[in-house]
Amino acid sequence: MKRFARAGACLCLALLFAIAWVAAPAAPTASAASAATAAPGHAAIASAHPLATAAGLEILRNGGNAFDAAVAVSAALAVVEPTGSGLTGGGLYLLHRQSDGFETAIDAREFAPAAASRDMFLDAKGEPVPRLSTDSALAAGIPGEPAGMALLAAKYGKVPVARSLAPAIRLAREGFPLSARVHESLERRLAQFAGDPDVARNFLRDGAVPPVGTIIRQPELAATLEYLAQHGLDSFYHGKLAAQLVAGVRAQGGIWTEADLAAYRALERKPIVGQYRGARVVSVPPPSSGGIALIEALNILAQFDLSGVTPVQRKQLVIEAMRRVHRDRALYLGDPDFIDVPVSRLTSVDYAAGLAASIRLDRATPSASLPGIGAGAAAGPQTTHFSVLDGDGNRVAATITLNFFFGSGRMIAGTGLFLNNEMDDFSMKPGVPNGFGLVGADANAIAPHKRMLSSVTPVFVDAGSRVLIGGSPGGSRIIGMSLLATLAFLDGQSAAEIVAAPRFHQQYIPDAVQYEAGAFTDDEARALAGQGDLLEPAAYRWGNFQAVTWDRATGKVEAASDPRGEGGGAVE
Ligand code: DON
Repeated sequence: MKRFARAGACLCLALLFAIAWVAAPAAPTASAASAATAAPGHAAIASAHPLATAAGLEILRNGGNAFDAAVAVSAALAVVEPTGSGLTGGGLYLLHRQSDGFETAIDAREFAPAAASRDMFLDAKGEPVPRLSTDSALAAGIPGEPAGMALLAAKYGKVPVARSLAPAIRLAREGFPLSARVHESLERRLAQFAGDPDVARNFLRDGAVPPVGTIIRQPELAATLEYLAQHGLDSFYHGKLAAQLVAGVRAQGGIWTEADLAAYRALERKPIVGQYRGARVVSVPPPSSGGIALIEALNILAQFDLSGVTPVQRKQLVIEAMRRVHRDRALYLGDPDFIDVPVSRLTSVDYAAGLAASIRLDRATPSASLPGIGAGAAAGPQTTHFSVLDGDGNRVAATITLNFFFGSGRMIAGTGLFLNNEMDDFSMKPGVPNGFGLVGADANAIAPHKRMLSSVTPVFVDAGSRVLIGGSPGGSRIIGMSLLATLAFLDGQSAAEIVAAPRFHQQYIPDAVQYEAGAFTDDEARALAGQGDLLEPAAYRWGNFQAVTWDRATGKVEAASDPRGEGGGAVE
């Protein structure tokens, strides 16, 4: 029970709140190569906000490709969904270029400032200092998003960055109607925000959250975006803006330096690729755990005949796969530039066969019986994902984040930018859960300029006749969401069905299965509980999955935004 009290506390916290080539391109397979010959003719975007989707479509109409659209959507989301992502955040972009089937992942994940240290969130007794890794200026990693967008635009885009940033600048300058979701998030942190003149100036009226529909203008954010449009996205990391950012963060007790910003690089990394039921599944590599965990889970499931088991047995197998991959996440995964990540082993079929051998169809495996880390929690819909397909067939799946709602909830004076609290994604102490209940160890310990482990799992599934571009926010639940979506897609579900389907989740620790209403029938819930699963019905629904599908056989393109959110999918 104590464990779940902690999980609840974490949930409350969660709710309250340059370029280097490091890998060869992923070799196109037969299906990717044949895909290169076809084009959908229609473009589609699904994102967490209709205005961000519209921003991407505007760029596609104005000469841009999917990669330019991704820059436009990222920038627009920073304006209209400031809860989820922003220029001061980071994330991973998964790219597919249709002309040659080339695929790459842009790692725009934040890294720790040089002055960060392994025990920086612990007190003299070695215990975590409450909220230091989430609410303080120390919680902020060095942002990666502007560098990621710069790389996207310079290497893969077709139009100038100033054009791709224009819709976001307009939205910041002219304003957008306050949505119910952002309204709710502002209310949750009102006590903190009312005392912050920068937040109050931009989002509050007379110290209160204005009604839904109120036009929110962010002139300082508009000025920052205009500066970047004029001087280039890399000017975030040098000169006047960098100095302003560092001064603003240090004034709040943070440890950023101009040297940290100047040292930041977005990196290209080789995607993680697997095969499942004849489909090619592509996702992002470390520093996200998402791709490895997704492929490992699919490899485990491939050891079973999912069509030959009962529906409840199938769910049990998915739960057991989730449990095992989250154990491996906790043990082995971190920034690959700092630790040796056993990518080949974790994604090998032989390894998965070994893990599958310990799965019983009639009994849950207690997490404690798996060798691992002893130590739980949940996630609201912070962070953001968008999926893009352009008329030529280029694809982007991107998950970008500030971590919690509005990151640390602190703004950098005069910039219109919120500080991320991504440092909480490190393991501050072995076995101590972070804001999403995730545990870790040395592999994900804090070190200067190290990237904190992420769970983002943007995914491409190419089943030959059909293609899925997808992903979701959701903290520790992200991996499971991409797994469930992949399985649903391969079962023939449409984009709308995939995003709406009820979800369940297991993350090794806590040893519990959380589930949304409708994810299990009463009989299934009884059966799972009877064989040892500790079931926790969720009080709310989680995630904000954004799916684009393309059926090569029929030519049909669909875009669907998760009904749990307020996003928009559009095809044109
Ligand atoms: O990168 C990660 O894994 C987290 N910072 C994502 C946080 C998130 O999805 C919050 N949403 N519920």
